[in-house]
Amino acid sequence: MAGPELDEVTGTYTTGHEWDGVKELNNPLPRWWVSVFYACILFSIGFCIAYPAWPLITEHTKGVLGYSTRNELLKTVAAHSEMQSEWRTKIAAAELEEIKNDPELNRFATRAGAAAFAVNCSQCHGSGAQGFVGYPNLNDDDWLWGGTLEEIHTTITHGVRNTTDDDARYSEMPAFGEILEKEQIDEVANYVLSLGNLEHDASKAAAGQEVYVDNCEACHGESGEGDIYQGAPKLADAIWLFKGDIEHIKSQISEPAHGVMPAWGQRLDEVTVKELAVYVHGLGGGQ
Ligand code: HEC
Ligand code: HEC
Repeated sequence: MAGPELDEVTGTYTTGHEWDGVKELNNPLPRWWVSVFYACILFSIGFCIAYPAWPLITEHTKGVLGYSTRNELLKTVAAHSEMQSEWRTKIAAAELEEIKNDPELNRFATRAGAAAFAVNCSQCHGSGAQGFVGYPNLNDDDWLWGGTLEEIHTTITHGVRNTTDDDARYSEMPAFGEILEKEQIDEVANYVLSLGNLEHDASKAAAGQEVYVDNCEACHGESGEGDIYQGAPKLADAIWLFKGDIEHIKSQISEPAHGVMPAWGQRLDEVTVKELAVYVHGLGGGQ
């Protein structure tokens, strides 16, 4: 490699680098580039003084402006909860009906209720409250325990068949496997299907009517309309809490499942429970 030499055409020294006869001139850096370079250094010094920048062993330099992203977040959160606390105070003071009838309160309560639902309820009732087998759909107007604001509020507050709340909604369908003959269960299951005009064996259903009147009517109603005071589902429809095929119906009659829902009044504050009631009531099936 040759050392630097004077390039005759430009009158500038080369750097001494050469690639296949092409030599690099040792021109000074452009002035604009150098200015930007120094400006960047100055800026970074200023930045390090003003803002948190350098990691130390357990902490970091704080900067004279006292800025931190965490503080900014806390400020935003504080501002929002201030805004919310105004609404929450109003909701705490209002009757459920008043919340429902005040468009602004209703909107706020519904949104807050939807957020609380996503956190606390969706794992059982589904993210769209569509339900799963054994976990009721909350969008429809088919209610186990009643679909008015008050009734929904009570169900959410005290829950169903839990052991933690003395006021939990309670009822228990007897296990008819120990009471009725297999044949009677088959017959009454067909009768249940006939109540909803679903596919069934007509002669079995006719025999099942008597079994139904004797054993089931007290809870499920004369024509299968259900009873919200006992959480007994309506049977004269195609909406099933469990599954609506003959095998599942027979198994529910023989060995009934007993759905349990936690008492949310013990876990959430009263305002949140109200918001949830307004949200669930507004899903479409509220009465
Ligand atoms: C651990 C599962 C579970 C969770 C979590 C849960 N539920 Fe339930 N929920 C149930 C079950 C099971 C039933 C049906 C009980 C029965 O069979 O009578 C039910 C019933 C209901 C009912 C009565 C429906 C009707 O037809 O009368 C409402 C309203 C309700 N839940 C709202 C909520 C809300 C709001 C939350 C969240 C705060 C919630 N649930 C969380 C399991 C759950
Ligand atoms: C003491 C009241 C009571 C009596 C009596 C009773 N049931 Fe029930 N039944 C219930 C309750 C409550 C449920 C809901 C269980 C739950 O929520 O977990 C239910 C659920 C059912 C279901 C499931 C409905 C669905 O939507 O999935 C069927 C089917 C049913 N009962 C049929 C019968 C038949 C048939 C008889 C009579 C042989 C009978 N029940 C007697 C209270 C009763």
